[in-house]
Amino acid sequence: MTALFDILNSTALVLPEERLALHAAAAAVPAGGIIVEVGTYNGMSALLMRRAAPPTCRVHAVDPFPQPGAVQRLSDHGVTLFQGTSRQFAAQFQEGIDLLLIDGDHSFHWVREDFMALAPLLRPGAVVAFHDAGVLPFWGIRLLVDVLELQGTMTRPAVYIGQLALGRFDPAAGLPTVDVYVRVARDHLAVPTDFGLWKTPADHVFEEYEYTALSLPHRLKDVRFIGRGLRGWLIKTLLDLPGEMFIDSGQARDPAMNYLVVSAYWTEIYRCLTQERGIPGHQLRAVTEFTVSRLLYADISGDRQGMCRLARDAFQREFLQALFAKMPGHELLALHHSGMLVSFFSGLFRGFSYDFGGQALSPPDTPGG
Ligand SMILES: C[S@@+](CC[C@H](N)C(=O)[O-])C[C@H]1O[C@@H](n2cnc3c(N)ncnc32)[C@H](O)[C@@H]1O
Repeated sequence: MTALFDILNSTALVLPEERLALHAAAAAVPAGGIIVEVGTYNGMSALLMRRAAPPTCRVHAVDPFPQPGAVQRLSDHGVTLFQGTSRQFAAQFQEGIDLLLIDGDHSFHWVREDFMALAPLLRPGAVVAFHDAGVLPFWGIRLLVDVLELQGTMTRPAVYIGQLALGRFDPAAGLPTVDVYVRVARDHLAVPTDFGLWKTPADHVFEEYEYTALSLPHRLKDVRFIGRGLRGWLIKTLLDLPGEMFIDSGQARDPAMNYLVVSAYWTEIYRCLTQERGIPGHQLRAVTEFTVSRLLYADISGDRQGMCRLARDAFQREFLQALFAKMPGHELLALHHSGMLVSFFSGLFRGFSYDFGGQALSPPDTPGG
């Protein structure tokens, strides 16, 4: 039997209080109960719950891509592994769940999908735990937890222990609609009122819009974008650019070409290109968070086509449309100036970039270049 100490030290729940909370939640599952984990990786959090739960409980781990050693490890310790998504698991599982841990792909699409797929199987009063719910880059998880709290689907307030948010499931409260998500997202996006921008007259907003519309060069055919990270993905999707306009820094060799570096690793890439490849510094420009925010602002104030292309599914499109349709111009402008727009969007779409049969389901999140 794997020693408890080893288990505790190798789960992705890095904080000791998170492991203790999960241990306590599993220990409180009634005899004969069912525990389900979505996102198992090397299986350690499932083993932790297996060790803590009464022996008559059954533990199921769901993961389309478990780590190689996990399959044997889980089976050795009596945890049933399902290799697939939560939706596929739910389609063939009929028992009531007492404890659910969601720790799979961290994008808004997938945490919502995992919860919606398994909600019909949750017993009233079941404990639902979301990992990384308080981590800013994973804003979509926080949005879902807050929505479930507001709706009453998850007991309010959810208990935050480290980055683990825990609550009890109440089926009577029903599942939230797009309007509830919009209400919570508007609270998340609320910016300080001392900006002065909140009092900006409407005509001034339009002047600002003209000024901030786009700062990228008009002749994009003379430009190559360097960086395939999240920022690059946002720009590519917003502007509907062909994939071949994006290259990595190793492919930037033509000193006559203009390069736009769409990556947080700007200083590193700049140094490499100027010193090792002899590209003149004036041929290189950085696309900052502010530029992305400006593009999002221009898009949302315009026809919202690009913003809708960013959405992974019809629900997200509807949510984004409803969120921004109700937002007055001066609030949007304040979000753009504060950089909140880009952090909101990147948090909403950031996942672990798992690839389901050749179809990338999340924007890439690798160092661009
Ligand atoms: C953060 S790790 C899980 C860590 C684990 N719970 C622990 O604490 O040791 C995320 C896991 O989610 C899995 N994953 C990715 N997309 C998923 C999805 N749509 N459904 C379920 N699991 C997913 C990945 O294969 C990866 O193993």
